[in-house]
Amino acid sequence: MEWGTYPAVGPGAEVLGRSLRGRRVLELGCGQGQNAAHLADRHRAQVTAIDLIDLQIQHARDRYGEVPGLTLLACDAMRFLQHTATVFDIIYSVFGAVGLADPWTLLAAIARRLRPHGLLGFSVPHPGRPGTRPTGGSQPRHGTIRLPDGSRRPVARWELSVADWRRALAQADMRAVTVRELGHPGRDHPTALLVIARRS
Ligand SMILES: C[S@@+](CC[C@H](N)C(=O)[O-])C[C@H]1O[C@@H](n2cnc3c(N)ncnc32)[C@H](O)[C@@H]1O
Repeated sequence: MEWGTYPAVGPGAEVLGRSLRGRRVLELGCGQGQNAAHLADRHRAQVTAIDLIDLQIQHARDRYGEVPGLTLLACDAMRFLQHTATVFDIIYSVFGAVGLADPWTLLAAIARRLRPHGLLGFSVPHPGRPGTRPTGGSQPRHGTIRLPDGSRRPVARWELSVADWRRALAQADMRAVTVRELGHPGRDHPTALLVIARRS
């Protein structure tokens, strides 16, 4: 499992807990599903992975549709969280919906579908990358994401400071347990933040 922008430099699935076997896990913004497939296949978790864009889910199904324990759905994260009856042990996002949807609304919806003391893990672009600064809560930055067919789709990005992420989590009844800066060991600047939080 990859949380950062450089492959094979860690951390991996261990940040989600020692044993994931049988855990109900939800990924928000799974893209082509590689992380969700890894958790279902290698760790025997029961994973639901959703993405807003049909094309991403089509590609995920082509690659991982046969993996036992993996359910792939095309759906908006907020919409899914509002309508599902499932309570999850773990919810995570790797450069996915967390950071690409209004954090205050999304984190509150996540907390409602996490079991007590359940875990939220998310990685987002580092808000202090060279040439950028954190966005305020109400003013997302406009950018694009690349789709499997090579096209680009516009997105709004919330790149909060660490202090603002902590505040947004606290408002949703969650507490940041660890905040790690991820990058390449040989490079100066971290490129991603990895936040692990727990629901009260
Ligand atoms: C940068 S990609 C990352 C994909 C994947 N997590 C990975 O690491 O390869 C961001 C993904 O989040 C999805 N996404 C953005 N906003 C979303 C939302 N509100 N609900 C569900 N998925 C969303 C996008 O469609 C896109 O596939």
